[in-house]
Amino acid sequence: MPSVILIGSQWGDEGKGKVTDFLAEKADLVVRYQGGNNAGHTVVVGEQEFKLHLIPSGILYPDKTCIIGNGVVIDPGVLLKELDYLIERGISIDNLRISERAHIIMPYHKKLDEVIEESKGASKIGTTKRGIGPAYMDKAARVGIRFVDLLDNEVFEELLEQNLREKNNLLAKVYDTDGFDKDDVMEEYLGFADRLRKYCADTSLIIHNALKAGKNVLFEGAQGTLLDLDHGTYPYVTSSHPIAGAACIGAGLGPTQISKVLGVVKAYTTRVGEGPFPTELNDEVGKHLGTVGFEFGTTTGRPRRCGWFDAVITKYTVRTSGLTSMAVTKLDVLTGLKTLKICTGYRWGNEIITEFPSNLKVLAQCEPIYEEMPGWSEDITSATKIEDLPVAAQNYLKRISELSEAPVSILGVGTRRSQTIIMDEMF
Ligand code: GDP
Ligand code: IMO
Ligand code: MG
Repeated sequence: MPSVILIGSQWGDEGKGKVTDFLAEKADLVVRYQGGNNAGHTVVVGEQEFKLHLIPSGILYPDKTCIIGNGVVIDPGVLLKELDYLIERGISIDNLRISERAHIIMPYHKKLDEVIEESKGASKIGTTKRGIGPAYMDKAARVGIRFVDLLDNEVFEELLEQNLREKNNLLAKVYDTDGFDKDDVMEEYLGFADRLRKYCADTSLIIHNALKAGKNVLFEGAQGTLLDLDHGTYPYVTSSHPIAGAACIGAGLGPTQISKVLGVVKAYTTRVGEGPFPTELNDEVGKHLGTVGFEFGTTTGRPRRCGWFDAVITKYTVRTSGLTSMAVTKLDVLTGLKTLKICTGYRWGNEIITEFPSNLKVLAQCEPIYEEMPGWSEDITSATKIEDLPVAAQNYLKRISELSEAPVSILGVGTRRSQTIIMDEMF
């Protein structure tokens, strides 16, 4: 039963795409199970850089089955552009399968995402404006349109009509903006349906049969623990569940079929969008992390907020996702910093907090408690084993592992596949 769930352990952009691509070599199936094209996963192969939003990062190997599971919300126009982008670059997409139960992002979801954000003013979430939240809202409200519904003209027309009645009213009366014409949307979306029909499948069954046959299945999470709808920094979160438990729901299998959970952990912390971030740095070190780490959103291009490693967060991820190990990425970005700081807890008034708080007002007032460690100046980007690293880098890694309460099985020292050190094989 070789199945591994890979998740983001902080606020997203930990390097899930790179680690997924690396592990995909030994996987037979790579499965996305939540989120949508709010995700941006960067993979570097040779001289080429690929930015993937919806398609699993296993697609760059010709022989892997790549699945978009039922838990993902799909913008069909974006998906087709991504398929064309891959085809143009010589990548085969024949092995892509899309769950018939996945929900579809409609034009009104994108418009609502925009106007809802605007109406919030200073308390905006800073969403990617890709329609993710409104699409999941409709799913929960039981008025969503699934891939299987899009493929049936009659069902699609009926659902679209019902939805437009409500959404056009909402857009006009609450947000004072234009709605959508049914015929225009029908024409555009039936065109999408024609092109995507051949990828439609019962993907839960494909995964089930693969596991039964002893094949290796890798589940590629999007976003990160602190963007989780239940366990993140609510309301500054996304509308799906980036924690490991979601893989079972979003792909259609049971928890007994999972063998390992790998948390991808950046060697420091970043965040895109609004919301509290205790270890955020607005100084030269923050600038170093942003510049050397090239911390700009893959989807929106926004500069990412940067800060020191926060072990309160990673310990929380170990707990909420049951991590069996961690893949630490971007250790190379810390090279050149004289002293490194690791947050071990928060000071809140007279109290010391060591478990991640649910109250955002408290979190916003938390002062990080730091432990300091010496940095290193040697280039580590060609290290191929742990022993190649300067002792200070080895000690830093050991300390974040101890504080997070999980072993490190993979280490990243650069963007390329070859810049990956394996301590413990996943498959
Ligand atoms: P994801 O959303 O978790 O897949 O992460 P992103 O792709 O949005 O952001 C991670 C960025 O860091 C990408 O540009 C990767 O190419 C890059 N990256 C991943 N691992 C490493 C690493 O170990 N070192 C360096 N320097 N860059 C890395
Ligand atoms: P990957 O998979 C980083 C953030 C947005 C915003 C919040 C809600 O690349 O790690 P949404 O559009 O989802 O309603 O926005 O979530 N966000 C991400 N931040 N990486 C991501 O994905 C993100 N996906 C959403 O910036 O703060
Ligand atoms: Mg990203």
